[in-house]
Amino acid sequence: MQEFAGELRLSKKTIGFVPTMGYLHQGHMSLVQESKARSSCTVVSIFVNPTQFAPNEDLAKYPRDLKKDCLLLENAGVDVLFFPDAQEIYPEGFDTYIYPDSLSRIHEGEFRPIHFRGVCTIVGMLFNIVKPHFAFFGQKDAQQAAVIKRMCTDLKFDLEVVVCPIIRENDGLAMSSRNVYLAPKERQQAVKLYESLLHAQKLISEGVRNTNRIVEEMIQIIKGIENHKLDYIRIVNAVNFSEVEMLKTGADYYILIACRVGVTRLIDNELIRF
Ligand code: PAF
Repeated sequence: MQEFAGELRLSKKTIGFVPTMGYLHQGHMSLVQESKARSSCTVVSIFVNPTQFAPNEDLAKYPRDLKKDCLLLENAGVDVLFFPDAQEIYPEGFDTYIYPDSLSRIHEGEFRPIHFRGVCTIVGMLFNIVKPHFAFFGQKDAQQAAVIKRMCTDLKFDLEVVVCPIIRENDGLAMSSRNVYLAPKERQQAVKLYESLLHAQKLISEGVRNTNRIVEEMIQIIKGIENHKLDYIRIVNAVNFSEVEMLKTGADYYILIACRVGVTRLIDNELIRF
């Protein structure tokens, strides 16, 4: 892959890169479409990265379907599938990690303390292998995209990080490989996460600026999910992810949600632009 990417660069091809953990859905494929529109060669990686999962998380049961993924990628006209082996990525003696700092300790970082270290390490390594001009990430993982952008700026990675909109199911549930874990009733009720985001948008469009009130009303909607545990709802500045009490004109915000529905941890968000 590294050699091939070097040759592509020598022949002045632009490389678009979509890193994934597989079990692809329309969210991933929208990143592929964006990459194909912007680059002459699109590389997709599939690698379920062990270092971004804590021991109590779902690494072993993370859904996999390589055959279906290959078909989707082929039909979409992807040029290269990079599917490395865990032994190649993390050979014996591997001892170097990228530790993102303050941005990785809040929100998702509070609940998944080693997660962003694993993400930055694998993404940084994949960037060195695939040598992309553009890399595409979904807004669904808004904090991940921000951490990766910060890493690229701070460590001078020579590429552009492109963040693409959330793709939703017909009823509004954000597409995620983990949705497959939801039992039918949980799947039905999980849409309340999106409904709470829509309600927040409505309140804001009616002039509500106090974020405590918005979060309180969102919580009331999420309480309609029978078996849930809300990790957080936070309204944050869209650049530095610091929490805000009052929304002000001229800034962008994310409303972030992380919630367990049954045993499945789901995240979602909405970008609020004034
Ligand atoms: O978002 C994901 O699927 C993963 O975190 C990524 C970026 C592929 C790194 O393993």
